[in-house]
Amino acid sequence: MRILFLTHSFNSLTQRLFVALRGCGHQVSVELDIADSVSEEAVALFKPDLIVAPFLKRAIPASIWQRHVCLVVHPGIVGDRGPSALDWAIINRESEWGVTVLQANAEMDAGDIWAQASFPMRIGKKSSLYRNEVTAAAARAVLETVEKFAIGKRPLRLAEAVEARGILRPLLQQMQRCIDWQRDDSAAILSKINSADSFPGVLDSLFDMPCHLYDAHPATSAAVAAVAGAPGEIIARRDHAVLRRTSDGGVWIGHARPVQTADDAGKPFKLPVADWFAVQVAQLPELPAALMRPVDEWGELRYWEEGAVGFLSFDFYNGAMSTGQCQRLRAAVQLAKQRPTRVLVLLGGEDFFSNGLHLNRIEATAHRPSESAADESWNNINAMDDLALEILTATDHLTVSALRGNAGAGGAFLALAADIVWAHENVLLNPHYKNMGNLYGSEYWTYLLPQRVGTGAARGLMQNRHPLAASDAVRMGLIDAAFGHDAHAFSTEAGIRAVALAQSHDFDARLATKRVRREQDEAAKPLHSYREEELVKMHRNFYGFDPSYHVARYHFVHKMPHAWTPRHLAVHRNNFLRETNPSP
Ligand code: COA
Repeated sequence: MRILFLTHSFNSLTQRLFVALRGCGHQVSVELDIADSVSEEAVALFKPDLIVAPFLKRAIPASIWQRHVCLVVHPGIVGDRGPSALDWAIINRESEWGVTVLQANAEMDAGDIWAQASFPMRIGKKSSLYRNEVTAAAARAVLETVEKFAIGKRPLRLAEAVEARGILRPLLQQMQRCIDWQRDDSAAILSKINSADSFPGVLDSLFDMPCHLYDAHPATSAAVAAVAGAPGEIIARRDHAVLRRTSDGGVWIGHARPVQTADDAGKPFKLPVADWFAVQVAQLPELPAALMRPVDEWGELRYWEEGAVGFLSFDFYNGAMSTGQCQRLRAAVQLAKQRPTRVLVLLGGEDFFSNGLHLNRIEATAHRPSESAADESWNNINAMDDLALEILTATDHLTVSALRGNAGAGGAFLALAADIVWAHENVLLNPHYKNMGNLYGSEYWTYLLPQRVGTGAARGLMQNRHPLAASDAVRMGLIDAAFGHDAHAFSTEAGIRAVALAQSHDFDARLATKRVRREQDEAAKPLHSYREEELVKMHRNFYGFDPSYHVARYHFVHKMPHAWTPRHLAVHRNNFLRETNPSP
């Protein structure tokens, strides 16, 4: 079938449906929701059999839904309506939630029902639930709908849906998320912040400045007991976060977005708390988290061992890795390499393995008089390369990248620096850089990528800029295995596989082969040559006359609305161009 996506952005859920439907053999084209006339033009050009709206912020124009079957993916149970479906589910502490596929009509979220899929709720950020449970359920429901549509089935009227228990709920307002630091306990505060993470954040204040709060984690009683303070008081710091007392304990708050910057220099965006409030945070007592520590003690980096396997997790918010975070992670890898273990598993974060350079922190330097975004980009990419090199040169261990979440751009290539790459079945990879203003990329990708997939496929991946399902990545040799239907099942299985790898009868032979191969590769072309060649191009991206990367980063960080749909997604526009400008 020809399936057109009408979507606000090509976000993770849209990408997941894109790869799933293409995987079933459908022809999928994408039009970003820019204006009704543009959507109408896309429909006229593509002539779709079916239109899917995976993520829309506005209604589909009547001129389209009256003539075509349009499926709306709603992140709520049957009967649920309104723009804050997941937010309410978190605030109301629902035990089960779901996704419904509706046929668009004149009323928002009130169309006939094609399919629904449910999932148990867990405590977590809205964005984490969206990227995991909601996305997996949406894929199930959309595939079921497309099959039903193909064989001529009809949707169910809402009135006929016996299981409908959802209701129409309004937009969740800041007032309903408002934190009462004197009365709310930690669980209530966490659910308020989780319900608004990643957007819009909870409106509160830090150091007397009105701010939106994000990235909250429960604090242990040991951490809270270490420093005295009254509810609401900010009492300590760790990594880039601050510890704030609640009525029954404390929460770590990692990120903030002030309502207005002090000097009013442009629109504020999300940054670590310690970046916005460097002076105030520096005065707080530091409560560092040891690298090897119990799981409930929050911190970005954690290392633990099971038998001869070392596990290193790096839970960086949104998978973005700043210069300092790369340096700290590299030091942790160095330490792990010195341990008497055989296998080192790099776990990334719970939601993302890595998304490469920390674009928000780079963008922040562009707004500080004595700093430069080009310099910070340069420092960041060098720190990423140092980290990748540390992994590549781990010749006393077999290394595994275990992707519990998606990986994009430099983060996808960082994963390839390990000997073995595993991912769970719903992981999406975006192994390309060009979307960020034509970045050339580094992280030794010119060494790592062709080695895994061959030169032709490497070029295709870089140029097509499409997301890749984990199963497709296995098929083309980019990664080694995909297993586990979710991050939890995957983590358990990855642990078992890693222990088995460390105990395997041919472990020594595999390690010896790895060393020989590295030596041969080094003799053929040293790693530093790959790096230098990549960095020459990156230097041009950062410091050259073409500002595309700086412009793209600005747009990305400031979440500027799209002005057009990129050609690699809008297949219908390419066909149109070919038809109107046939090659001679
Ligand atoms: N630096 C800073 N923030 C990043 C980031 C990065 N490298 N990558 C993602 N984020 C943030 C997004 O701004 C977004 O923030 P929010 O919490 O305010 O919504 C959040 O992470 C999720 O990103 P989003 O784009 O919504 O996720 P997605 O799953 O739909 O898409 C990617 C994933 C990787 C395709 C997309 O995030 C992306 O293109 N990131 C940039 C990658 C890059 O170019 N890195 C630099 C070169 S190495």
